[in-house]
Amino acid sequence: MSQVRIGILGSRFQADCIAAAAKALPEEAEVVAVASPTTAHAAGFATRHGIPRAYTDHRELLRDPAVELVWITVPNRLHAQMTIDAAKAGKHVVCEKPLCLTIEEADAMIDACRQAGVLLLYAEELFFAPKYVKAKQLADEGAFGRVHLVKQGEKHSGPHSEWFWDVEQSGGGAVMDLACHGIAFCWWFLGKPTIASVYSQMATQVHHERTQGDDEAVTIIEFGNGATGMVESSWNRLGGMDDCIEVFGDKGQTYADLLMGNALPTYSEVGFGYAVEKAATTRGWSYPVFEEHWNYGFPQEVRHFARCVRGKETPISDGETGRVVQEALYAAYASAGLGRKVMLPFRPKGIAKPIDLWRAPP
Ligand SMILES: NC(=O)c1ccc[n+]([C@@H]2O[C@H](COP(=O)([O-])OP(=O)(O)OC[C@H]3O[C@@H](n4cnc5c(N)ncnc54)[C@H](O)[C@@H]3O)[C@@H](O)[C@H]2O)c1
Repeated sequence: MSQVRIGILGSRFQADCIAAAAKALPEEAEVVAVASPTTAHAAGFATRHGIPRAYTDHRELLRDPAVELVWITVPNRLHAQMTIDAAKAGKHVVCEKPLCLTIEEADAMIDACRQAGVLLLYAEELFFAPKYVKAKQLADEGAFGRVHLVKQGEKHSGPHSEWFWDVEQSGGGAVMDLACHGIAFCWWFLGKPTIASVYSQMATQVHHERTQGDDEAVTIIEFGNGATGMVESSWNRLGGMDDCIEVFGDKGQTYADLLMGNALPTYSEVGFGYAVEKAATTRGWSYPVFEEHWNYGFPQEVRHFARCVRGKETPISDGETGRVVQEALYAAYASAGLGRKVMLPFRPKGIAKPIDLWRAPP
């Protein structure tokens, strides 16, 4: 069998995206197992997606000889340990964003996978989102001349699961959850230059009662090639998910709206089933999206990673990518705490989680 056999850890939001994406690629990948702590959730997920085996302990899944690639879709604080366990079991690993909580964890994950001779792949789907890939192709072709400013924003009304709001489990708020996408995006779009400095303005604007985390931020990244990245992250945007980019060069620019730009501007007095992720209502005006997973790039990401496991492609997003983002996240939180930009390299030791650098800057 040439399909890569995937075991998914976790059985909720992102696990659903990955299982559905894999199902769209029967010639490349197949989900053969899932592990999630609640028996009914694991079994229900397996039934829903036609997956043959469901476990309640991730270590059982890691002992399953059928699993070649473990896809980690669990709360952030568990990413490092599960990656290391998977590597020791000889499985390739895809880790969802953000890679982990600390730079020491990132180092340990990368080392464990290297020592075991397995791949550590970092799931940043914006590298695969077709509209954004098109923008990058245009930029690489020279359509905009020298690109000097790349902006990305991701905003919604706040996460669906309680653990995101608990900084002990998530490591931080909107910056940890959303700016990780934007930092990775700007860096990738510009051809992976060094990051010279990071400045972030962040606050808890709306959700004081629910979280100690930041719920809104603007983060500015100065790249070694002279270009600037600007990342907007918010858990305070009502009306559904918003994900946009803007690219400016000395010969042109482009704009892309990942979801609303592809959606159907729709008005309904009675409402309907589903418009877009995190939209609270479908009454009145809404923007129902179609082919949501494809627009995000999830099937394209699964395909690329499956082909990497088979040695047919070289990873464009790996553990090192996750570590670059992790260092920028540290710098963003420290910058907000210090009230000034933070120069990289920036690797303070012994930090328990990135948000601590905001609350108690070095
Ligand atoms: N790439 C993206 O766009 C994207 C989108 C959403 C989430 N994510 C990332 O995916 C990860 C999961 O987020 P989510 O939204 O799916 O969260 P979620 O709360 O919807 O699901 C988390 C899952 O992890 C399971 N889990 C918890 N402890 C576990 C354990 N010890 N063993 C096995 N499973 C365990 C839970 O039971 C649940 O099924 C996070 O790191 C998040 O940042 C990425």
